[in-house]
Amino acid sequence: MARRKLGILISGRGSNMAALIEASRAEDCPYEVALVASDKPEAPGLAWAREQGIATFAHSPKGIPKPEYEAAIDAALREAGVEAIALAGYMRLLSDDFVTRWRDRIVNIHPSLLPKYKGLDTHARALAMGDQKAGCTVHIVTEELDGGSILGQAEVRIEARDTAETLAARVLGEEHRLYPKVVAKWLTTLPR
Ligand code: GRF
Repeated sequence: MARRKLGILISGRGSNMAALIEASRAEDCPYEVALVASDKPEAPGLAWAREQGIATFAHSPKGIPKPEYEAAIDAALREAGVEAIALAGYMRLLSDDFVTRWRDRIVNIHPSLLPKYKGLDTHARALAMGDQKAGCTVHIVTEELDGGSILGQAEVRIEARDTAETLAARVLGEEHRLYPKVVAKWLTTLPR
């Protein structure tokens, strides 16, 4: 069976993108990464993807109307034969129109145990609430921010000495394990 073609959208560091790409090198991995797209041409993750020989789309949306910018990303993804998209620290909200065009074919990784702490500053919020555990969630992207159905989660115990930074680092380690695993499983069930 041909491997499924995955596109990844990033805005920065790209450590989850790197985890997805590293995992795709395994012989039995059901996907390959066909394109990495970034709204930040200077994103560190983009340089790394290029070094790995992966095709990239690197354009800032500045001064471009959103529908036009998203149409350009959409065209690049389709040209690369992408069948599904993984958001990996992509900091821009996708329009309802884009989500509709890729219905049930976009996933995201979020650094909290959804439905808790949608949006930003998840670790500081979990600490402020006195939570005993934190974690990360892989979910389908819908029009509702961080609201689509949950495909997988990983938990991390919160320690008394944790700061938002130490907690973020431990959760990130779990993200790197969880995301490739869940994406691989999800892609094998996706209609061609
Ligand atoms: C991760 O914490 C992810 O959960 C969130 O944005 C961060 C991206 O980090 N959506 P990286 O760019 O993958 O290193």
